[in-house]
Amino acid sequence: MRLPDAEALAVAHGIVGRRAELRAVLAGLVAWRHVLLEGPVGVGKTALARAVSQGLDRGFVRVDGDGRYTEAKLVGHFDPPGVLERGYQPDLFVPGPLVQAMRTGAVLFVNELNRMPEGVQNVLLPAMDEGLVTVPHLGAIQAVDGFAVVATQNPAEFVATGHLSEALLDRFELVELSWQDEADEVEIVGQEVRMSPSPELIRRAVSLVRATRNDPRIRRGASIRAAVAIADLAEVLGGDLDRASRMALATRIELAESGDATKVDQVIADLMMQAEKKSPLAPRR
Ligand SMILES: Nc1ncnc2c1ncn2[C@@H]1O[C@H](COP(=O)(O)OP(=O)(O)OP(=O)(O)O)[C@@H](O)[C@H]1O
Ligand SMILES: [Mg+2]
Repeated sequence: MRLPDAEALAVAHGIVGRRAELRAVLAGLVAWRHVLLEGPVGVGKTALARAVSQGLDRGFVRVDGDGRYTEAKLVGHFDPPGVLERGYQPDLFVPGPLVQAMRTGAVLFVNELNRMPEGVQNVLLPAMDEGLVTVPHLGAIQAVDGFAVVATQNPAEFVATGHLSEALLDRFELVELSWQDEADEVEIVGQEVRMSPSPELIRRAVSLVRATRNDPRIRRGASIRAAVAIADLAEVLGGDLDRASRMALATRIELAESGDATKVDQVIADLMMQAEKKSPLAPRR
């Protein structure tokens, strides 16, 4: 199978930049591999995975990892009242996302795989290299062509981050995503906003958010979602970037040393002042 055109795919899905990463993910899937996307929150992992599975004309089944997710949720389960009545009949099996993806040759997109309990991760092992999952009372299910796992994980320094086992990592090819450059981010925010803020507001929002990622007082900076929120809020607030930024950033940044809300506000005010010095905000007409 030839590699689909990353450029056309990106355009069709409104993906800004990321051509190399798109090509890499596509190559992985075309070569019948599974792909692990690694990068911080909001960096575009889901957007990329979705575009790729659609570009390959495969279905897309999504699962979000959390510590209480179970093997039965991933694989599927028998309908209990039905089983009481008729026993374990195959038609009473309600397929979970894994079995759905295996039966239809779709991409199983596992968001935040590293947060899944070990038991859930272990179910994926035979599914990923033999295309096989065994369900009690039902038997072996074999994946049809097209089935692949695309998973994401946040880098290890993030809170609530578990680790993937060596066996699981051995079944994935890795594509790392880091923050995009400023011009790309401005373009993405322009696409995502819903309140038509001015290009100037968008630029300010992006520059402020980017500053949160390089400040030693901040352990975890904000993602592009924060910039979208700031631009939209500021627009609705008549240009009050200050209020908008505090609303959007307070929940999204984590200080290096734990501090109270006042400290967060202080850091934000400081970053705003630095940005203002660098390029003063044109007065609003
Ligand atoms: N390169 C890009 N082109 C267009 N839109 C993008 C791009 N990167 C991110 N976005 C948009 O930014 C938002 C966040 O991206 P996305 O949800 O894909 O991030 P994520 O890495 O999956 O985040 P999380 O770790 O929180 O799941 C989405 O609205 C997405 O459409
Ligand atoms: Mg995501």
